[in-house]
Amino acid sequence: MIRTARKTFLPFALPTISEEAIEEVTQVLRSGWITSGPKVKQFEMEFSDYIQSSNHNTIESVAVSSATAGLHLALSAIGFDRDSAAITTSVTFTASAEVICYFDGEPILTDVSGSNNNMTGELLLQTIDQFCKIKDGKLYSKKTGKHVKAIIPVHIAGDPCEMEEIISIARKFNLYVIEDAAHAFPAVYKNQMIGTWGDFTVFSFYATKGITTGEGGMLTTSNKKFADAIRRSRLHGINKQAFDRPSWYYEVTDTGFKYNMPDIAAALGIVQLKEAHSFWNRREEIALRYINEWKSIPGLKLPHATENGRHSWHLFRIELDPSIAKVGRDSLCEELKDRNIGSSLHFIPLFEHSYYKKKFNYLRDHYPNACQMYDRCLSLPLFAGMTDSDVEDVVTAVKSILI
Ligand SMILES: Cc1ncc(COP(=O)(O)O)c(C=O)c1O
Repeated sequence: MIRTARKTFLPFALPTISEEAIEEVTQVLRSGWITSGPKVKQFEMEFSDYIQSSNHNTIESVAVSSATAGLHLALSAIGFDRDSAAITTSVTFTASAEVICYFDGEPILTDVSGSNNNMTGELLLQTIDQFCKIKDGKLYSKKTGKHVKAIIPVHIAGDPCEMEEIISIARKFNLYVIEDAAHAFPAVYKNQMIGTWGDFTVFSFYATKGITTGEGGMLTTSNKKFADAIRRSRLHGINKQAFDRPSWYYEVTDTGFKYNMPDIAAALGIVQLKEAHSFWNRREEIALRYINEWKSIPGLKLPHATENGRHSWHLFRIELDPSIAKVGRDSLCEELKDRNIGSSLHFIPLFEHSYYKKKFNYLRDHYPNACQMYDRCLSLPLFAGMTDSDVEDVVTAVKSILI
């Protein structure tokens, strides 16, 4: 078979960094204040303005060192402990569940929807029925007896979960909703941005995400008390932020963490936030082109634009039905690599990893859709900095392999 390989390797994701961003970061480096300070405050305020709609409660944004840190801080703020459990999804990155394990709590896993691999209200109710018992209106794990305190839905690839359904189930059982929105900036569900729905939402600014600060994250909440507590606990449980300390006195009011974001990162974030809409426009343009070009390939399942809002298009995940498609997922991945095109898998289900398997004994039979996704799924290159010729290469390669 004749294959035309690209001259240079095209990764499945790359950050897009403008000259303006480089200039802003350089100014911070020259300023003498490089850790958490005025840039973090500015980034937090501008982030709140970005996601907030006029008819909604005031949103507080708290910048942190990663989404993992933000999830950990949110659980800590609600008093999560070793006798607690939280429900999350089986198809996610380890961070969504590992933060539960930081407390020696129990992650209870839902299966995922066959159509977009998200947690749904229906799956959540099934999981509660299967793995939880109800006592005095509260939920407890059937397996460990731990008190279920939170739901951690994950907007996979940036496709928003059914937040209305999930929140109404949470309210019924007195559960907090902590959204893992690592993929979901800037995503919208029913005319309201992700970041304004749950009790807490946590975004990631890791290198490949919708916007980046290198490493970093943002926690949003409309609960001022929680926001204030988390501002303290992200920096050692100290009652004043370093930048706000005109005098030598400060007090440690609690055990805290070292999860603050430095100004170097925030300066990059401020510029990325300004560019976020154009990044998203370009990602959507590429995603719609892929869908249009590949829609009639047999056995290829494509993602679709969200009916109820806006997909952030962080990832372009496809599935190949091995009984219909010309080649299976592993061959597609190999053949793309031969053509110098990268791809990845999001995600190996949590129950497949040795740590989770050994510690929690999850049974594959409980997660049929997650298992099917694991056999079939692949993420193809999608990032704002892709040139038209990069896009053309991916379009052509996938067609030549699958048709
Ligand atoms: C679904 C999900 N949640 C959480 C995280 C953790 O993000 P961070 O690297 O900012 O801690 C990731 C990272 O890729 C992720 O994919």
